[in-house]
Amino acid sequence: MLKDQDRIFTNLYGMHDRSLAGAKKRGHWNGTKEILARGREAIVNEMKASGLRGRGGAGFPTGLKWSFMPKQSDGRPSYLVVNADESEPGTCKDREIMRHDPHTLIEGCLIASFAMGANACYIYIRGEYIREREALQAAIDEAYEAGLIGKNACKSGFEFDLYVHHGAGAYICGEETALLESLEGKKGMPRMKPPFPAGAGLYGCPTTVNNVESIAVVPTILRRGADWFASFGRPNNTGTKLFAISGHVENPCVVEEEMSISLRELLDKHCGGVRGGWDNLKAVIPGGSSVPCLPGSVCDDAIMDFDWLREQKSGLGTAAVIVMDQSTDIIKAIWRLSKFYKHESCGQCTPCREGTGWMMRVMDRLVRGEAEVEEIDLLFDVTKQVEGHTICALGDAAAWPIQGLIRHFRGEIEDRIKAQRTGRRGAIAAE
Ligand code: NAI
Ligand code: SF4
Repeated sequence: MLKDQDRIFTNLYGMHDRSLAGAKKRGHWNGTKEILARGREAIVNEMKASGLRGRGGAGFPTGLKWSFMPKQSDGRPSYLVVNADESEPGTCKDREIMRHDPHTLIEGCLIASFAMGANACYIYIRGEYIREREALQAAIDEAYEAGLIGKNACKSGFEFDLYVHHGAGAYICGEETALLESLEGKKGMPRMKPPFPAGAGLYGCPTTVNNVESIAVVPTILRRGADWFASFGRPNNTGTKLFAISGHVENPCVVEEEMSISLRELLDKHCGGVRGGWDNLKAVIPGGSSVPCLPGSVCDDAIMDFDWLREQKSGLGTAAVIVMDQSTDIIKAIWRLSKFYKHESCGQCTPCREGTGWMMRVMDRLVRGEAEVEEIDLLFDVTKQVEGHTICALGDAAAWPIQGLIRHFRGEIEDRIKAQRTGRRGAIAAE
């Protein structure tokens, strides 16, 4: 288990003084000028050595992403955009950072922007996060006033401006290119990739889009060293990680832990265990609603990292752990996600626009047991037609939870269809 002294987000553990003075007491903004003095290349290399993988869900190596930004300006400005449009069902970890540790994020924005030659950074925050936006803006104002950001940030000679942009509540605007469209004042619709944002991002300029947690851990990595960060977890799955645990546990919470912790330890140590005991566990969605669920039997040995969960045909995603006990109607739970993705589809590509509606309608009938057994395979087949055939990952996200349901709970779906049939026949016979 992670020791207290190795927690990056110490303020999530009870201090709750998020002012600049409080942040400084916890070691933030300490030696920032010296970190910048190491130079762009040294900072990017340190980030690469730390092994940090993006904390927004996809797990792309952060240092590598930064290295795609132009080393020399070609006349276009470069931008850092922080994705704070946290909307994945079950996910509320970035909210905690912005509420309680806003200065950690702001310092990270400065260092990351410097490393990528960006003089401006935009934090795109989810529309519903009103208090978080206020906390963030208050901290930004404090940082400007103290000369930590602005014309001569931390007296380093680097000019840096930071803006908060308020979203309007559309899930799709968390997709990085839809977010850029929205930031430009257009309708939030994903762009085709490539080009990736480092080539043509905000206003067609070189841009890196990073998640809040990915940026907020940067100052500590650079202060304590890449080796320190890489000493947690397993190779290719390094560092500490925020987990947001919800559902049928005794004490739902957001907690920072070592990457690759076992699911059992995570739930037992921090959440008081599964409601009604471990044997009462039915399924877990380990990484936010976009990743397939795992049945309780697999959860016994589950390791919470990118590679182990991928091997199980699931994923770490946003590390939002949704726990479901035996009382859960798992078919209905996944149907609810299908409804969500249908509602949030932007509609610009056919497999997603039509497929999400089609999948939801079949799921609707499966919940009531009114489908034919043969439709289970047909539904799986349709998810495969949607997966990988759309402009953005929303199509995959709509397909994967259904695949997980069919893979692990086919028996339950069939039983419901049979029970419904028997009930129907019984009712007809009684007439
Ligand atoms: P992605 O794999 O397409 O990209 C991940 C990042 O790596 C992007 O910044 C992309 O530009 C970059 N990248 C990937 N390949 C690259 C290449 N060849 N060259 C340069 N850059 C490259 O995944 P995406 O669509 O950005 O994210 C999907 C994930 O987002 C899902 O798995 C889900 O877990 C997560 N998600 C998180 C939400 C949240 O609230 N935090 C909401 C919805 C989804
Ligand atoms: Fe829009 Fe869905 Fe296509 Fe993404 S996959 S661009 S949400 S229609």
